[in-house]
Amino acid sequence: MRVNLSRRRLFRLAGLGAVAATASGCGLLPGTPLPKLLTSAAPLPMPFTTDLPLPSVARPTRTDSGADYYDLVARTADVEILPGLRTRILGYGGTFPGPTIQARSGRRTVVRLDNGLDVPTVMHLHGGHTPPEHDGYPTDLIQPRAKRDYDFPLSQRAATLWYHDHRMDYTGPQVWQGLAGFFLVRDAEEEALPLPSGERDVPLLICDRAFSADGSMPYPGRPNGPGAAGEFMGGVLGDVILVNGAPWPQLRVERARYRFRLLNGSNARTYELALAPGRPITQIGSDGGLLAAPVRLEKVRLAPGERADVVVDFSAYPVGGQVELRNLLGEGPQAQVMRFVVDRAAKDDSAVPATLSRVEVLDPAAAKATRDFQFSSGSTHHGDGWVINGEAYKPGRFVARPKLGDVEVWRFTSDVAHPVHLHLAHFQVVSIDGERPAGPPMWKDTVELRDAQTVEIVTRFTGYRGKYVMHCHNLEHEDMAMMADFEVI
Ligand code: C2O
Ligand code: CU
Repeated sequence: MRVNLSRRRLFRLAGLGAVAATASGCGLLPGTPLPKLLTSAAPLPMPFTTDLPLPSVARPTRTDSGADYYDLVARTADVEILPGLRTRILGYGGTFPGPTIQARSGRRTVVRLDNGLDVPTVMHLHGGHTPPEHDGYPTDLIQPRAKRDYDFPLSQRAATLWYHDHRMDYTGPQVWQGLAGFFLVRDAEEEALPLPSGERDVPLLICDRAFSADGSMPYPGRPNGPGAAGEFMGGVLGDVILVNGAPWPQLRVERARYRFRLLNGSNARTYELALAPGRPITQIGSDGGLLAAPVRLEKVRLAPGERADVVVDFSAYPVGGQVELRNLLGEGPQAQVMRFVVDRAAKDDSAVPATLSRVEVLDPAAAKATRDFQFSSGSTHHGDGWVINGEAYKPGRFVARPKLGDVEVWRFTSDVAHPVHLHLAHFQVVSIDGERPAGPPMWKDTVELRDAQTVEIVTRFTGYRGKYVMHCHNLEHEDMAMMADFEVI
């Protein structure tokens, strides 16, 4: 508790540009850097004066009985994010977010990525159950002017996934500049449910950025080497909240239920999202697809990389009513996210059934191994950084060799907050500081460790043998070596 209070106070100080935030209080090493706010010099728009953009839906260039094939170019583009200013981005298809890829469970999707940037890139399908050679291992670089195919079998249930850059040491700056997009997997089980769909199924990529006076979105990188500049090594926070690439946008909605696929695509910012005026939000899905049953929440907490599928029923509001989506962890403008305006009456056949899906519950007692991983600050070959079990990331050094098909329990502990992400293996949270988590069973691929916490997860390694990574999804921590390889054998 005391830790959280002091963190919030430090965030506020950082918001005034007064100090570099460092951890203090119980259990934390003095001097452990916390995320720091980067302040815009550009004139910022009033909230809710831009319309929410919807990322375009990618169309396959070719399709055959076995697969859908997409061609995607990663390239720079000048786009209007702040009114009247041009921002140079790195974007899939030259847009930010990139085009949404719509895929089906069990149907191969092949993405040919052409690197039109002047830097190397790697693409990772976050939440994908993907063979290792197509998983975006951080050193599997696509050089400028080269291309490669990513082949996704998608033998996995419907879920909101996303694809983003994963270049070793440079994921923070390259995602910051725009290399991220939605990848939605659908399946028959989900389609049989009367959930809101079509125009009432809306992906929302939430992230924070900061802008120079000329509209550019510079990343505060170290002058000589990867990672964020010293005072930003705890994470880079922006003072502008973007939804689908627009600052504090507005969406006109019908008086009906909507499904929102919330994705925290920020480098380092965690959100607690709530409606104002306050009404509960119904969560129906998590990183790994539908929950067993819906759960009504006052607020939805999302650390970087996490997703929540939620349903909001706007029939609770009158026509003309306005509803804000707010961030309870933010101060001032960072407490605002977007606004919904209830525009018109409409017919609504949707419903949220009391049972959504059958979610197998993994039994931690079936674990063949229990492994401990400690996430903390530490020294790396580039200087101060972040380490797992005291070791900076070294490609090819395995910290675990689980057997294909085995259930294992992995126990994570933290100094400051770290959102931990496993490639390949979706998991279930067994305990948080010894307590069972609240809520129905769900599949996750990213779990937030808060300050000085212990979280146990249970997972089963299925599908593919080979080399995968786990890492912190605070992208500054990731780039500063908070990553490790495991090999499924
Ligand atoms: Cu979303 Cu390994 O990352
Ligand atoms: Cu971290």
